[in-house]
Amino acid sequence: MSVNAFDKAKELMEEIKNFKINNEQEKEIFRKRFVGAKNIIKPLFGEIRNIANEDKKAFGQYLNEMKQTAEKIFAEASVKLEMIADSNTTQNIDLTRSAEPIKLGTRHPISIVNNKIIDIFTKLGFTVAEDREIEDDWHNFTAMNTPEDHPARDMQDTFYLKDSVERLLRTHTSSVQSRLMTSTKPPIRIIAPGRVYRNETISARSHAQFHQVEGLYIDEGVSFADLKQTLLYFAQEMYGKNTKIRLRPSYFPFTEPSAEMDVYWGLNDEVDYRITKGTGWLEILGCGMVDPNVLDNCDIDPVKYTGFAFGMGIERQAMLLHRIDDIRAFFENDVRFLEQFKSVF
Ligand code: DAH
Repeated sequence: MSVNAFDKAKELMEEIKNFKINNEQEKEIFRKRFVGAKNIIKPLFGEIRNIANEDKKAFGQYLNEMKQTAEKIFAEASVKLEMIADSNTTQNIDLTRSAEPIKLGTRHPISIVNNKIIDIFTKLGFTVAEDREIEDDWHNFTAMNTPEDHPARDMQDTFYLKDSVERLLRTHTSSVQSRLMTSTKPPIRIIAPGRVYRNETISARSHAQFHQVEGLYIDEGVSFADLKQTLLYFAQEMYGKNTKIRLRPSYFPFTEPSAEMDVYWGLNDEVDYRITKGTGWLEILGCGMVDPNVLDNCDIDPVKYTGFAFGMGIERQAMLLHRIDDIRAFFENDVRFLEQFKSVF
């Protein structure tokens, strides 16, 4: 019996010393077996009374040694596993992060509205075309059926470059029409967003720089009905599914017939009365069928091809959508203004 108990103790000691604790599960198995409340060493102490007197002391000491060995191994393994866990989290720390919270920026309202317009027309198959802001007189005016001395040139006060009367800051994105029509052949279906400039006194209503989006569709058999349907789709995507539009006859040198499009805004409050001048209708854009002269100027056969065009101010759309009443706000970059667009993108 005494030999058996000693042998059993020695076997256990071997097991304890050889036990590999590499993770939390193994540590838990070890704890239950050798150091927990119901550990396997404890009952061996009860065997002392069965041991021959001369061996009692040695056996007792051996059991104590075994108990301490198990506790020591357990404590060391705990420290080791904790260190590993710590070093894992240290490795995951992003040292490039700022110690202070970083303030999130916002998109500029002009970009937000510009992107929205692009999204709508992209769905209809339009692609985005961009061109220069410093234009020549021909692309900005002459090709667009606005020759020198044409009274329509007075409609747009132009910034000419000092070095030459031939170069100017484009007064409208319609210049992209003549750029494209001279370099590409139909079918053409593009929208051209960009910045334009006019020599105007800066006020709450007008600015010397602003943004426009131009649209142009040229192919065989393009009709006014196509224009109307395209613009109705745009208005309802932009201003809501039930938006009504109306087209009023107007005049632009580069379109014939020409029209201005209004959307029905409603007359719900005082502001609506003021901005719609009591009519409930708001002008949104200019449009029309591309004048055959323009096609001719750009070497596109006006007998074979027809097309429609339209142009709108982005600031105007943004002011209506977000009820902004001073165009200068877009160019001052006051963070208190810009921060209001945090949730829109
Ligand atoms: N270019 C015009 C403007 O700046 C807007 C415009 C009107 C563009 C009619 C067009 C159009 O393409 O067909 O006021």
